[in-house]
Amino acid sequence: MEIIIQPDLHSGTELGARIMEALIRTKPNAVLGLATGSTPVALYCELIRMHREEGLDFSQLTTFNLDEYVGLSAKHPASYHRFMQENLLSHVNIRHDRIHIPDGMTEDIPTFCRDYEAAIVKAGGIDLQLLGIGHDGHIGFNEPSSSLGSRTRIKTLTENTVAANQRFFSSEEKVPLHVITMGVGTIMEARTCLLLAFGKGKAEAVAAMAEGPITAMCPASILQMHPHAILIVDEAAASQLKRADYYRHVYANKPPFQHREMQKPNFIASHSELTQ
Ligand code: PGA
Repeated sequence: MEIIIQPDLHSGTELGARIMEALIRTKPNAVLGLATGSTPVALYCELIRMHREEGLDFSQLTTFNLDEYVGLSAKHPASYHRFMQENLLSHVNIRHDRIHIPDGMTEDIPTFCRDYEAAIVKAGGIDLQLLGIGHDGHIGFNEPSSSLGSRTRIKTLTENTVAANQRFFSSEEKVPLHVITMGVGTIMEARTCLLLAFGKGKAEAVAAMAEGPITAMCPASILQMHPHAILIVDEAAASQLKRADYYRHVYANKPPFQHREMQKPNFIASHSELTQ
């Protein structure tokens, strides 16, 4: 795993957006795995800016979102369909038939989940999966104890996740207990995983995922087994990393050509060969 510590959310977000831009410019028909939550909002703003001001083209991309609440329609203000439209998709030139978000209203969840997996395979697999991390180490909505080999399926949220996500719902409305989420195994098949975490509240989860044991009790820890996982954190989220100085040292001493590569369109391909 490449662990990149940036001074703050702004610089971490900018680097994350640059990595995604590099992929999109190299492979205009790339398949992106997208995430919701607070963490990627600033990154999506930056991608929208790149689209408007620098001609970043979304017209050939395909996207698959990680998860959705069961029982929420695409129009519900707290649905992840709505979140994606508001925070990214309605602002860029993406084709609607290439957007995939789990259907929280499906009447046959197991069949829907199998079809979702099949659609990812049919699209050629996910090139880059964007991820946030929950305070308990979840990725997607794969709560602790999720099988590390799991596929897209229904999950039950923990009380803590329900409480953490209440902020996206009106006070009188309850967070749904059930969700459809890509599995940990599904996420692990993405060619690149890019996990962003900012703020002190994420420090414990970040340390557990990057330096703790690989365990279903911290599903994100499986990324230690991923051949090309990039973790971008700010100083606050890095504050419990025991080897933070080493990660800073590695990044500061990257051979110049690797830093230059990061600015170039072929960054993703070269990066995976050179830094693992
Ligand atoms: P957040 O959520 O980005 O809103 O902190 C991350 C997550 O729960 O996966």
